[in-house]
Amino acid sequence: MPVIKIPQLCKNIEVTDGTNLMAALIENEVPVASSCDGDGVCGKCVIKVSFESSESLPRSPRETVLQEKHSWNEFQRASCQIVVHSNLIVQSSYW
Ligand code: FES
Repeated sequence: MPVIKIPQLCKNIEVTDGTNLMAALIENEVPVASSCDGDGVCGKCVIKVSFESSESLPRSPRETVLQEKHSWNEFQRASCQIVVHSNLIVQSSYW
């Protein structure tokens, strides 16, 4: 099962394959900013995401719009748009 690693909080969250990243964080009492409730519109749920393996996760069309609008770098991802399939490491400026 994939693991979401949060070094800032010394926390690892094991999830089932296909879990939504933002939902998993909130369920595990890790706050995620949002004003669109995960609809992929506000961009406030952005966090830094890196993958343990060489695997990467293509952006959804909705996330690509957000990336262009906010000029995000390659590691800045809309957590509400990410489906977890492998181990990843996440960081936020407000944790
Ligand atoms: S919660 Fe609004 S874009 Fe992710």
